[in-house]
Amino acid sequence: VASTVEQYLSKRAQAVRGSAGRQLSTPGEAQVINLGSGTPDFRPPEFVLEAATRSLTEGKIHYTPWLGLSELREAIAGKLERDNGLSVDPETEILVTTGAQEALMTTLLTLLNPGDEVLIPSPHYTVYSRVASIAGATVVPVVTTLQDNFALTPEALKASLSPNSKVLILVSPNNPTGTVLAEATLRQIAEIVQERDLIVISDEIYEHYLFDDARHTSFAALPEMKARTVTINSLSKGFALTGLRVGYLSAPAALIEAMLPFHHAMTICAPVTAQYAAIAALSASRDWFAPILAEYARRRQLWMAALEQARLPYAKPQGAYYVFFDCRPTGLDSATFVERLRAEAQVALGTGGSGAGEGFIRGSLMQRSPALEQGLERLAAFVARCGA
Ligand SMILES: Cc1ncc(COP(=O)(O)O)c(C=O)c1O
Repeated sequence: VASTVEQYLSKRAQAVRGSAGRQLSTPGEAQVINLGSGTPDFRPPEFVLEAATRSLTEGKIHYTPWLGLSELREAIAGKLERDNGLSVDPETEILVTTGAQEALMTTLLTLLNPGDEVLIPSPHYTVYSRVASIAGATVVPVVTTLQDNFALTPEALKASLSPNSKVLILVSPNNPTGTVLAEATLRQIAEIVQERDLIVISDEIYEHYLFDDARHTSFAALPEMKARTVTINSLSKGFALTGLRVGYLSAPAALIEAMLPFHHAMTICAPVTAQYAAIAALSASRDWFAPILAEYARRRQLWMAALEQARLPYAKPQGAYYVFFDCRPTGLDSATFVERLRAEAQVALGTGGSGAGEGFIRGSLMQRSPALEQGLERLAAFVARCGA
């Protein structure tokens, strides 16, 4: 059968085959401690869950407007104004999507032609390059390094430009590196964007996860940038609602209009129950999040202490909930490290990036005590056995 299937696969499918990798959280292996999860482990506030349940009881089970419920778009506009300093028209400049993932797919399918170049600071979230490939575009990784704590530098960006450069993808706080781009850096990047007439996709889904003195800046809020930025966000990370599948993007009205055929062809509209949860979530204060963030800050300290002790270099996490470390002192490449760690120490981790990520591993703050401590001990013992 496999060989029959082979001959029918599109070039597109062949290009991305296997790139989804392995789902870390696959159930059924109780002895394995997952130190690499991408899913927040807190329970969202009850009022959010109740809004979802209530909407079902009230029989809200049909398609919504393609753009999303107008009440939700109002709530999103309020949130963008309040948290991000962005003024957007809820009627024309917001599209509610089935997670940030659909927002990325819809945006890139709307913007890219074969031959267009997409600049992606790397290592990066693998989906960016996968979606760019599906759209037939060329991925240009912009190398970021441990020396710079994996921050995108204006110099590296300039060196990667060509006449075909069209889209720049920014994600701050970053998955997998935990890097938060400083406003001063973003302003320098904005100058290049303006000069070279680029369009920016700013993925801000980790905006609420900030440590020490890190601050989040929305790229579209910088002077002149709103007209050339697609801001993507979702309820997955900020509200631990990964399974409800609701996100949104804001962009210039004409671009949203051009996106609609793609959005409609893929999903018609975002899940209605999730949209009602999102109205409640985005209309309220986030005071409830402070103790949760404090707990993640505690876990971050445990991770950093464990890596110091194992003498594995790492990027100090400034935001998101990942810890990106160098496994090369063990003498293993990323894939072998991950494979052997799982088989020999029952710890699951992912390589967490592609493009310039070789030799690095992505840890996550989403494991609770005492399993976190236990997992970190297993990791340290494994590294010691490797003779690092
Ligand atoms: C950087 C980044 N963007 C987008 C997504 C997709 O998020 P969503 O669940 O909103 O589709 C993820 C999920 O891990 C992510 O890490």
